[in-house]
Amino acid sequence: MSDFIRWQENWALEIPYLDQQHLELVEQINRIAQTVASERSTPAHRADAGRQAAASGGDKERCADVPAQSRLICDQVEELIAQTREHFREEETLMQRLSYPGYQEHKREHGILLAELVDLARQVRQGAEQMGLGTLTALKHWLIVHIVTSDQAYADYYHHYGPSIEKAASAGDSGEHPSAAGWRSDAGPAVPRVSNGN
Ligand SMILES: [Fe+2]
Ligand SMILES: [Fe+2]
Repeated sequence: MSDFIRWQENWALEIPYLDQQHLELVEQINRIAQTVASERSTPAHRADAGRQAAASGGDKERCADVPAQSRLICDQVEELIAQTREHFREEETLMQRLSYPGYQEHKREHGILLAELVDLARQVRQGAEQMGLGTLTALKHWLIVHIVTSDQAYADYYHHYGPSIEKAASAGDSGEHPSAAGWRSDAGPAVPRVSNGN
């Protein structure tokens, strides 16, 4: 199966550790897509896959009571949540260090995205959500839209002001630092909800 999301070079923010995390999020969504595809073609495979997932990591406690046929997807979604939470924390740390004017709005967007993902995981655990192509497409959409709009906005800020801010911080003065009103984040279109893809 070809990758559900194929990483595009022009999605890179040119901030290596954050680009790496974005790539890992893409890879995790691709893993989920692969599981969904294989479940569709061989439903009996699900029970074995669930046992493999429990052995290979993920949040075993959360997914322990999930029916075997949904356990691998549950585990993979939990892993995606953990990765996403860590990634958002790293981005927010960088934005705070730079006193990024769009920090509060960006953080709010992270909160919405994470809440959507957590809700999706809850539905998967309860068996209410059949992880289908529609849900995966929504997941793909929110990730890419967020990267190319909101994340790109702070990356532009980082590349423009970051060096002088970091230099000024180490020298003990304020450096060139725009006010919130003076910086346009151009955050782009609203990020779609994850759970309404079906
Ligand atoms: Fe990001
Ligand atoms: Fe972000």
